[in-house]
Amino acid sequence: MTKDILVAGNWKSNKTLSQAEDFFRVFSEKIKGESLPQNLTAVVFPSLIHLEKARFLINDYRLPLKLGAQNLSARQEGAFTGEVAASQLSDLVEYILIGHSERRKNYAEDDEILAQKSDRAIEAGLKIIYCVSDKNDRVPDGVDIVAYEPVWAIGTGKAATAQEAEETASAIKSKHPKVSRILYGGSVNPDNIVEFLKMPTIGGVLPGKTSLDPDQFFRMLKNAAE
Ligand code: 13P
Repeated sequence: MTKDILVAGNWKSNKTLSQAEDFFRVFSEKIKGESLPQNLTAVVFPSLIHLEKARFLINDYRLPLKLGAQNLSARQEGAFTGEVAASQLSDLVEYILIGHSERRKNYAEDDEILAQKSDRAIEAGLKIIYCVSDKNDRVPDGVDIVAYEPVWAIGTGKAATAQEAEETASAIKSKHPKVSRILYGGSVNPDNIVEFLKMPTIGGVLPGKTSLDPDQFFRMLKNAAE
């Protein structure tokens, strides 16, 4: 495929440090020093506590992977116990996930908080992947990448059809013409990835569960590259 594609693996709250290390080791054995095609960008989103080790291993094994964080503070750096500020993340990662339905639902993150988080990320120069579960969800100004993730497709093994995903992606694109890329997420796997990537408005995917397994993640990249 010649269009630009982003494959972003959201590990969620999974993996101990040694399991994260295993991922990069096994992935490096699969990819064997090869690079990805120019038009394909791969990003992994480990837990915050594993980011530094992940960065070290990506450099050490020379992996064609970029790093993202799954969360950030809505506030700037300062006296906010337990929070991690965008400025602290910005020398470790290039991407940030904001607006995931799991955070909206379980941590009461509303449009106001998500807009604050987006402002912090933009100030710090992070690339936002802003998740929505519906074409009518708000998207803050300055967001460049939106991920459409229908809640019923997340972790259920029942992905949307590529046509359904394309329809919503294209509605989001018309509503937010400044957004440059729309991803689809929800039960993406090595078998269905190509169907999504064939769609004209879909510029990548956001797999969760299948991105935890180095073999499946590698196969998704391989299929995306063909
Ligand atoms: P699954 O791929 O496990 O359905 O998760 C999708 C997701 O929520 C990615 O952010």
